[in-house]
Amino acid sequence: MKDNILKHLAIIMDGNGRWAKKRFMPRTFGHKKGAEVVREILMESKKLNINYLTVYAFSTENWKRSKDEVNFLMNLLVDYLDNEIEVLHKNDVRMNFIGDINGLPKKVQEKIEECIEKTKNNTSITFSLALNYGARNDLVNAVKSISKQFKEDKINLEDIDENLISKNLSTYKIPNPDLIIRTSGELRLSNFLLFECAYSEFYFTDVLWPDFNKDDLKKAVESFGSRNRRFGSIK
Ligand code: IPE
Ligand code: IPE
Ligand code: MG
Repeated sequence: MKDNILKHLAIIMDGNGRWAKKRFMPRTFGHKKGAEVVREILMESKKLNINYLTVYAFSTENWKRSKDEVNFLMNLLVDYLDNEIEVLHKNDVRMNFIGDINGLPKKVQEKIEECIEKTKNNTSITFSLALNYGARNDLVNAVKSISKQFKEDKINLEDIDENLISKNLSTYKIPNPDLIIRTSGELRLSNFLLFECAYSEFYFTDVLWPDFNKDDLKKAVESFGSRNRRFGSIK
């Protein structure tokens, strides 16, 4: 066994639509079940001493879906946060959000603010929801923000380094992910954490997100434990 420490776990929760289709149900049924799974995985992550859990819930490309599906997802999100916030707070979970939050509907933004405020002093685990998140968009925003600081003479050209870029991404509060899990059998990142994943370990499983459970999580964590992380050096 290696002494790999899993501080930050990130998950691409994929396969809700296919899960519903297999049951001859509308895609929205899969999203509903998928949202229920998040609680169990969050609580198990906390038990496994993972300090940061980040889940990809809505990408900058997901706006291409039907208006009905997008609306359903936005409402589901508000309901989810409404229903979960007390439980999350009681479990000492700090809520965080990554992505272009200003591009979300007002009611979602208000709920987000409320969750951040209520849980800001919690310390057991930081739970980040990636909403209207796209890594390329996040990098574009970082470039804009750094350019503005440069133009206003707040920084010099020499100040621009990897650390400064990190600080200007919406992920600035969380460390780089140690492990990224993607469910549903797709073998791609779909614009998730492209800058942050430089030395992440990856775990792909065919399990569809609504079926993903504690045991699947443990399998992924076990796999991570046996990886030889070299970060470019020789061990
Ligand atoms: C993941 O499930 C949830 C979101 C992207 C919002 P999908 O909705 O992508 O489900 P599949 O991939 O079509 O099965
Ligand atoms: C990635 O899943 C985004 C989320 C899980 C929120 P998608 O289903 O949108 O990705 P693609 O389209 O299969 O690449
Ligand atoms: Mg999908």
